[in-house]
Amino acid sequence: MGDLKVIQTVSDMHRTADEMRASGLRIGLVPTMGYLHGGHLSLIRQARRASDRVVVSIFVNPMQFGPQEDYATYPSDFERDVKLIQGMGGDLVYAPSAKEMYPEGYATYVAVERLTQHLCGPTRPRHFRGVTTVVTKLFAAVKPHVAVLGQKDAQQAVVVRQMVRDLDLDVEIRVAPTVREADGLARSSRNVYLSPGERREAPVLYQALQEARSLVAQGERRAAVVVEAMRQRIAARPHARIDYVCVVNAEDLRPVEALSGAVLFALAVRFGKARLIDNFQVSL
Ligand code: PAJ
Repeated sequence: MGDLKVIQTVSDMHRTADEMRASGLRIGLVPTMGYLHGGHLSLIRQARRASDRVVVSIFVNPMQFGPQEDYATYPSDFERDVKLIQGMGGDLVYAPSAKEMYPEGYATYVAVERLTQHLCGPTRPRHFRGVTTVVTKLFAAVKPHVAVLGQKDAQQAVVVRQMVRDLDLDVEIRVAPTVREADGLARSSRNVYLSPGERREAPVLYQALQEARSLVAQGERRAAVVVEAMRQRIAARPHARIDYVCVVNAEDLRPVEALSGAVLFALAVRFGKARLIDNFQVSL
């Protein structure tokens, strides 16, 4: 197992990234907010295959949380994360403080328009602006050749790709498949918020997506019919509160009526304190 280096300042990160690049090493970045699980680990595995040095960033980004959201209670266990990253063969952890990232007088944002109006956009205003701003800052500090994101946050991946294209950033974006628990629940740091009763019902997101998948396989092409079937299945769980159930074009994220081309089935459901998201994509 190699030595794992922990970097906490932007200037240290710049220097280390410059050294790696000067040695001809390909840098892979896995941006995270910590409290790592199997989903994050599969991203690290993919980054290892795509690069010579893997940097995992751990930063709970205040800018992407709404005022009523869980920034203050977001779970963390830095020691455990470091061990997991080391076990996966990661080389470096970049864990700046909020003060280091957003010092007094900070005033700059990166915002992607249009794509951020759909899906999670309406219920989480300014969330994606926080994500694209922090990802830009992480790219600037880590100087990665490649960054690996998860399909679990499908809209985030589409938005970041658009940002990279629009701003001519020289970073290859790879998207890794969603990692699930045995019962289908997508892994998430936020699953710890679920009570035992909520946890038993939470796989309904996956079940609803599976139902959509089988309707499509049977030839159903009306989005409204598929959405209604998903909604009904979710509504049958007493703890579930639907935020949205949508079928959108996988590229521009606009709602579709007839299913054709690349379509994304996406949903967000609240269970008590937890807001869970999941999705699947098909090409028809
Ligand atoms: P976080 O929720 O920690 O997720 C970090 C990365 O892991 C994201 O790319 C996310 O899509 C991916 N991921 C999470 N759960 C996954 C799962 N079950 N299977 C596969 N990949 C999964 O997403 C963020 O942090 C932040 O918004 C961030 C990009 C770090 C910016 O602050």
